[in-house]
Amino acid sequence: MKPSINRPRLAAALFIMGLCSFMTTTVGASTVKDGRQVFRSKRCGECHTVKRPGKPATYADALKKKGPDLWFAGSKFKKAWLETWLQDPQPIRQMGFNSILEKNQETHKSLSERESRSVAEYLMTLVSTEVTKGIIKGGKSFKGKLIFEKKGACYGCHLVRRGRRLIGGLSGPSLVEAGMRLQGDWIYTFLKRPDRLTPPVRMPRFSDMLSDSELKELAIYIGGLK
Ligand code: HEC
Ligand code: HEC
Repeated sequence: MKPSINRPRLAAALFIMGLCSFMTTTVGASTVKDGRQVFRSKRCGECHTVKRPGKPATYADALKKKGPDLWFAGSKFKKAWLETWLQDPQPIRQMGFNSILEKNQETHKSLSERESRSVAEYLMTLVSTEVTKGIIKGGKSFKGKLIFEKKGACYGCHLVRRGRRLIGGLSGPSLVEAGMRLQGDWIYTFLKRPDRLTPPVRMPRFSDMLSDSELKELAIYIGGLK
C-alpha cells in the first residue's frame, strides 16, 4: 500500500509553522527596537547612561549623576526583575541617589506592562565585555554569609533579610532579594574590579582586602538571596 499524504493538511501545517517562526523572529526583533524607542520617548537617558563612557569617570563626575549607569544592564540584571520593577518601581537605595543624608523620596517613572517588556528586552542587549559569564554558578554560600556579616562588614551599608527582619545599613543599595535582581557574575566583577563598571562611589574597594575566592563566595551568597 502506498503511504498516503494528506497534501492540503501538510501544506496548512507547514504554513502555520512558517507563520509561527516568522512571528517569533519579527516580534523579538521589534521588541528591542520598541524598547529603545520607549527609552528615548520617556527620556530615561536624562538620568541613565546607556553608552560606556570613553574614559573612567572621576569621583566628581560620578556625584553629578542623576541615576545609576545602565550601559551594562544586560550583564547586571535578571530580565524578569526588570520587567516587574519597571511597572512598579520600589526604592532600592534607601537614601537618595548620591546622598547619604536625605531619604529616597523619589517616585520613579513607571511603565505599562507592554512598555516594560520591550524596555527590558532592550536593556538586556546592553552587555559588558568586562563581565565573564559562567564563573559564579548558583547555590548558597555559608562562607559568603560569614564574610558579609563579619569580615567584610558589608551589612554596615547594605540591608539584608534575617528571618522576618531586615538588618543592615542604608547608605548602599538594598540587597534584600538581590538574587532576583542581580546576576552572580556581575556581582563578582563589581567586587573584583568596581572601576571597570561604576566609578567608586562610597563603596570601599574590597579586592585588596579579600581574596579572589572570598569575593566569589560573596557573589554566590548575594546571588542566592531570595
Ligand atoms: C529623574 C531621573 C530618572 C529618570 C528620568 C529615570 N530614572 Fe531610572 N533611576 C533613577 C534613580 C535615581 C534610580 C535609583 C532608584 C533606587 O535605587 O531606588 C533609578 C533606577 C533605575 C533602574 C534600576 C537600576 C539599578 O542599578 O538599581 C532601572 C532599570 C531604571 N532606573 C530604568 C529607567 C527607565 C527605563 C527609565 C525611563 C522610563 C528611567 N529609569 C527614568 C533616576 C531616573
Ligand atoms: C561604606 C559603605 C559600604 C560598605 C561597607 C559596603 N558597600 Fe557595597 N555598596 C555601597 C554603595 C554606596 C554602593 C553603590 C555603589 C555605586 O553605585 O557606586 C554599593 C554597591 C554594592 C553592590 C551593587 C548593588 C547594586 O544594586 O548596584 C553590591 C553587590 C555590593 N555593594 C556588595 C557589597 C559587599 C559584598 C560588601 C562587603 C564586602 C559591601 N558591599 C560593603 C556601600 C558599601
